[in-house]
Amino acid sequence: MSPDSITTQEADLRVADGWTLHEFAEVTSTNSLAAHLPPWTAVRAVVQTAGRGRTGRPWISDEDGLWLSAVVPTPGDTAPWSLLPLAAGWAALSVVRGLGLPDARLRWPNDLLVGRRKLAGILVDRFLPEAAVVGIGLNVANHPAETDPALTGEVTCLADLLPHPPLFPSLMVQLLAALTGEHHRLESGNAGGLCRDLNGAWGHRQVQVTLAGGSGVINGHLDGVDPSGALLVRDAAGEVRVLPAHRVELLREVFPA
Ligand code: BTN
Repeated sequence: MSPDSITTQEADLRVADGWTLHEFAEVTSTNSLAAHLPPWTAVRAVVQTAGRGRTGRPWISDEDGLWLSAVVPTPGDTAPWSLLPLAAGWAALSVVRGLGLPDARLRWPNDLLVGRRKLAGILVDRFLPEAAVVGIGLNVANHPAETDPALTGEVTCLADLLPHPPLFPSLMVQLLAALTGEHHRLESGNAGGLCRDLNGAWGHRQVQVTLAGGSGVINGHLDGVDPSGALLVRDAAGEVRVLPAHRVELLREVFPA
């Protein structure tokens, strides 16, 4: 592990379900730290000082949230692993629903929401061809809007939704086990099964998609994803547009005024 990215000493080391888990009081980003670690290793920090979100945004990582990165192997053909960000979203959603939040849902590609509020986000980094880092940020009892008031009304946390939110060790074991299950599903070539699960989990379907590289905007109905992971959006003319993830800069849900 790079000592540059560790601002306090390693606090604990546990083994969960075949995973080796390293816990820290404070790091820059658990994803950046995990870049140097072997598969089936996970890193958790109490606080991240430079937490990273998707599309280069910062991720507020205050105390009492779960900031967890897990390294998984991505051997062989690259095709199944392009679905890993979607599979990780489904893994996290399954855990959150099982905690007693059956209405939790996904917003493409892998945001977890309850109602319109974001509960968790996922960032998958491919630092090397043979492994990926799956970073999960789950608001547990933290309140990111206290750090960034622009998030007021946009975010939620388990403690605001459940009478008894689970403890961190139990959450981590459940998330890592679910991720192992989804990794096996991709490895065994069952992209169709993943797709079916995901396509029942997108909550709101009216969307505005901003295409990458300034190539326009599509307003339409989210039909789901196909087994290659491409987003399917039915535009106003009724045509289904097939959009691989790299063609999508941003998907915004559109609600009636
Ligand atoms: C997003 O919704 O934009 C993705 C957020 C991902 C945040 C997690 S917290 C653990 C891991 N370390 C990071 O720096 N980012 C991810």
